[in-house]
Amino acid sequence: MGPSAYPPISAAFCFHWHNLMSTTVRKAVFPVAGLGTRFLPATKVLPKEMLVVVDKPLIQYAVEEAAAAGITEFIFVTSRGKTLVEDHFDHHEELFEALAGRGRLDELEIVRSVVPDGAVFAATRQAQPLGLGHAVWCARDLVGDEPFAVILPDDLVKSETPCLQQMMDAYADKGGNLVAVVDVPREQTNRYGILETASDDGGEGSLVEITGLVEKPTPEEAPSTLSVIGRYILQPDIFALLERGERGAGGEIQLTDAMARLIGAQPLHGLRYRGRRFDCGSKVGYVAANAAFALDTPDLSVRIEAELRDLLETAQRGAPDGAQGN
Ligand code: UTP
Repeated sequence: MGPSAYPPISAAFCFHWHNLMSTTVRKAVFPVAGLGTRFLPATKVLPKEMLVVVDKPLIQYAVEEAAAAGITEFIFVTSRGKTLVEDHFDHHEELFEALAGRGRLDELEIVRSVVPDGAVFAATRQAQPLGLGHAVWCARDLVGDEPFAVILPDDLVKSETPCLQQMMDAYADKGGNLVAVVDVPREQTNRYGILETASDDGGEGSLVEITGLVEKPTPEEAPSTLSVIGRYILQPDIFALLERGERGAGGEIQLTDAMARLIGAQPLHGLRYRGRRFDCGSKVGYVAANAAFALDTPDLSVRIEAELRDLLETAQRGAPDGAQGN
């Protein structure tokens, strides 16, 4: 669909419109200021984004995915008590020296590669957890006047081509605003941003034209079962809409509400990405992610598979915990 299908609604939108196709995405925002209430007590002190899947914190998977997609500036939106997230990407000379001194070169390489080559990190604070939209708005000065990506680290995507790279490929073609989307069971629509679509062939890797967006609708009210996951490429015009501070579902300033307002002014597409999303903000998704990533780790897969089979067989036999396993 060509640009003329989306009449600009203001001079500002018009200006960005002409730049939509040409500007590369260099910056990614990582909102990590949520309370993580579904993971208490683990998240009483530990930020949810520092929860570990196999051997890496969620935030590191997110940063690696962004780096693989060409992002060079990494912007964390943090809150009080979330300094561990920034610390994780800090230089740790003592550890480097200790590992080098002991000849632990593999481990040295692992800790060195925590920070992608050439990466620039920045952080800003969200003073109060007023919602995802507000968290993204807090990054406005660090993002400036250019398109940017948003990654929610608790949505972990396992895929051959990193999810954000798939989106960058689609963005190079379509420009505008883009979200990654996936079907969810109808009874779960009240947990996600749900789409209303004009065209959707349902195929993996295909693009969906979005005509409406509703945050956390009830299963009865949901216009579809297609949900937004935590991957976005956005034009900077979103900041003017977030600035209004309008409260949506749950009394929070929602990113999806601001995006819904872009419809008609700028293109908004959903990418049915290839891969599997684990909602690591939920216990089921988090445990499943650990199993899936462990099964895909060469020196763990055989033993993990045996453990999982044994656990399942034991559970099916109804034996008490640990009674049969090794
Ligand atoms: P969630 O909806 O998962 O909220 O936020 P949460 O507070 O992290 O977790 P629960 O629901 O209480 O268990 C989605 C993403 O938006 C960020 C979170 O850090 C997470 O990455 N977020 C949310 C903020 O940065 N600020 C907010 O005010 C709300």
